Amino acid sequence: MTIGSTPPGRLRSVLVFLFSLALPVALGPSEALASGNQNFQFFAPPAEGSLPDGPMGRLIRKGELIFIHTNLYAKKYVGNDLTCESCHLDRGIKPYSAPLWGAVGTYPRYRSKNHKVNTLEERIQGCFRFSLNGTPPPANSDTMKAIVAYAYWVSRGAPIGLYLKGQGIVRLPKPDRTPSLHRGKVLFEARCALCHGLDGQGTKADLGQVAFPPVWGPHSYNRGAGFSNVRELAGFLRMNMPLSKGKSLSDQQAWDVAAYVNSHSRPADPRTSSASR
Ligand code: HEC
Ligand code: HEC
Repeated sequence: MTIGSTPPGRLRSVLVFLFSLALPVALGPSEALASGNQNFQFFAPPAEGSLPDGPMGRLIRKGELIFIHTNLYAKKYVGNDLTCESCHLDRGIKPYSAPLWGAVGTYPRYRSKNHKVNTLEERIQGCFRFSLNGTPPPANSDTMKAIVAYAYWVSRGAPIGLYLKGQGIVRLPKPDRTPSLHRGKVLFEARCALCHGLDGQGTKADLGQVAFPPVWGPHSYNRGAGFSNVRELAGFLRMNMPLSKGKSLSDQQAWDVAAYVNSHSRPADPRTSSASR
């Protein structure tokens, strides 16, 4: 990970390592294949760091830095403690965490959320507004240009107009049992609180930088965000959480813990209220 040398990066690596010792999970053959991006199952982005020289390479690198440290490099557009990478894991290339390479070839695209055809820039602005609870950068801003350059770079060679395996977020079938906040709480305390805190507020490193992001409360995504939908969040958790142990929750557990996470307070949907902005 690019931020491996920063303090929150180190704290995170140590915790993730300790956590990985705690509960060994047997990986079946398909999981083993799905755990890396350098295999035939999923689109393989260019290797990390293999950037072109000159202005284009510098713009792509800037976009990558914004993506990973959004609250440092695009601070004025961000209204919470999350970064793009908080949800689009492994610098935006991990399958089933809405990877950039799954998006680039499918925009412009109609979205029922705003009843219009969205450009890639408009889609990214949506994540700034809801997931980052912020004020989106204009489409022609340097910030947006850099993010888009980075998104295209990691998608180099991906087909245009096709939905690729691993794109987007998994849509889970309806759960067998109604999601239970009680089961969700027990699970959260056992499998999530180590990193995200019993109070869901995440963990900060010494310098105040976010090591593990808050999953509810004033510094998390707002009620207009995709993750404020329990099914969408459950699909993300099923494949990606606990970090480095994706696919260890059952569908039912993912629904339960998603319902529990979203039962807490968080910033209002900016479309319907200006309350907590
Ligand atoms: C709180 C979690 C969260 C954060 C933070 C976040 N996003 Fe997203 N993003 C999502 C979700 C959920 C989707 C919808 C995925 C889907 O359609 O299945 C999404 C969709 C996208 C898409 C379209 C993906 C597709 O396949 O259609 C792009 C591009 C994107 N985000 C970029 C960004 C960028 C750039 C940032 C940072 C500025 C960011 N996101 C921050 C959760 C987040
Ligand atoms: C080993 C530490 C660890 C564990 C355990 C863990 N997470 Fe995460 N989680 C992370 C990290 C780190 C990120 C952000 C990814 C990044 O920045 O690379 C994240 C991101 C998230 C996000 C999206 C960002 C946000 O803050 O909203 C949600 C939601 C989430 N985790 C929920 C959970 C749930 C629910 C569990 C338990 C089932 C869990 N996590 C277990 C480390 C962990």
